[in-house]
Amino acid sequence: MTLICAVIAADTPKAVTAMSAEALAAGAEAFEVRLDAFAEIPDDLSFLPTEKPVIATLRSEEDEGRGEIFAKALACGAAYVDIESDSVLRNVFPQTRVICSHHDFAKTPSAWEILHLFRDLSTSGVPKAAFMVRGPRDLLEIRKAAVVLKQSGEPFILIGMGAAGEITRVRAADIGSLVSYCAVRPELASAPGQITVVEAADLGTDPVITAITGWPLEHTRSPQMHNAAFRAAGIAGRYVRIPTPAEELPLLPEVLRCYRIRGTNVTIPHKQAVIPLLSAVSAEAQSAEAVNTILVSPAGNLTGTNTDIAGIAAAVAALRVTLSGARVLVAGAGGAARAAVACLTAAGAAVFITNRSMEKAEALAVEFGAAAVLPHALTAGYDLIINATPAGMSGFSSEILIPESILTPQTAVFDMVYEPETTPLLAAAQAAGCHAAVCGKTMLIAQAAASFTLWTGTAADIAAMTAAFGGES
Ligand code: ATR
Repeated sequence: MTLICAVIAADTPKAVTAMSAEALAAGAEAFEVRLDAFAEIPDDLSFLPTEKPVIATLRSEEDEGRGEIFAKALACGAAYVDIESDSVLRNVFPQTRVICSHHDFAKTPSAWEILHLFRDLSTSGVPKAAFMVRGPRDLLEIRKAAVVLKQSGEPFILIGMGAAGEITRVRAADIGSLVSYCAVRPELASAPGQITVVEAADLGTDPVITAITGWPLEHTRSPQMHNAAFRAAGIAGRYVRIPTPAEELPLLPEVLRCYRIRGTNVTIPHKQAVIPLLSAVSAEAQSAEAVNTILVSPAGNLTGTNTDIAGIAAAVAALRVTLSGARVLVAGAGGAARAAVACLTAAGAAVFITNRSMEKAEALAVEFGAAAVLPHALTAGYDLIINATPAGMSGFSSEILIPESILTPQTAVFDMVYEPETTPLLAAAQAAGCHAAVCGKTMLIAQAAASFTLWTGTAADIAAMTAAFGGES
């Protein structure tokens, strides 16, 4: 059984007592008291909590004086002292009272190397290692090592660090780790990917796990939206990041299966590249030639779909435009434009495509029975104008392909850009008196909600997701 271990990093005995009480109330099943958080360690360690097993940790380059403190901690009731593998103190105390630990803040070694390391660590006590996880390869090495360690029946602690390691924390019970280290409060998390005691207690031992994969993933707002939807739906679930460099994408299916992930979103740059790895692809994803959502069946089969199309449909619905027979202009000819054109033509709109590179606009138009229009040949008369280029997004050129002269009160405007929420195009639409306008936020939230429903079979709370998304408005 994996214990929820609250990391107690406080600088006075009184604060340790208060924080332990807070952690206990939140569901802590063990404590790691970080004695290194004290400016000066008190002589008397009888303040160590007694309600649950305590691991006393004191990291230091220096061994002088540490042995004495560890001895005192054990005498004051600590179940274990955590001693690094390169310290001479690792063999001073009884093996049953030592956690012998190793950290690698840069990488995860191979499963074989992990097992070799654990053999060495276990000669001094309970072996513990924490490795920086960089992507699917590292997750699979941890998993492979965990399977062997679990078979031994001996206690061990194995953790993947970093945002990509979060899955190893929420699946700590599957890994077989003796403890899962958790922060007492979010602001006290000592490492990215570390969850809080309350979150761990709420998740229980078998939460629903969903994910996002792409590269890079630092700026995604999907975790906050999906985790809000889980909370609102009362589902013990967690949405984690699996940053995946292109060369490791083929390992993704195995990660999804062995960490029992119910489904994942797929984002830039893998929306096309992931298709050959799937056992089935929905008609929508086929027409968009892009997969943004994968559902994993209980048997481990992967089906790809595209909820961006549902997101586009939701944005258009918010504009109250009837697509059947409407004249719609799409600016852009990349992946986002393709999804829009697929959605619009399926709904019976007359679609026109404009783009910087006209050959791309023409190719897309031919494929979907639409018309390509040169940017400088655009004239008024569209019921709906959609920007599917990054123009106007923070960090991109604010020069837009759509001339202000074609924006009229009869036009509705949808800009897929969501940052800023009032884009140059939407400002121009407002100035021209366009009857309706919406930014990419509506689409993003709607695609997230559609993915959530696909994975959980439960309607997503749009208001909760919107609040978690943040931003203007
Ligand atoms: P996405 O998947 O987001 O659609 P993409 O496939 O790279 O991304 O496509 C980006 C689209 O935005 C393209 O149509 C691109 O125009 P080109 O085909 O001429 O490259 C368009 N685009 C990118 N930056 C732009 C800008 N600053 N102004 C206008 N169009 C731009």
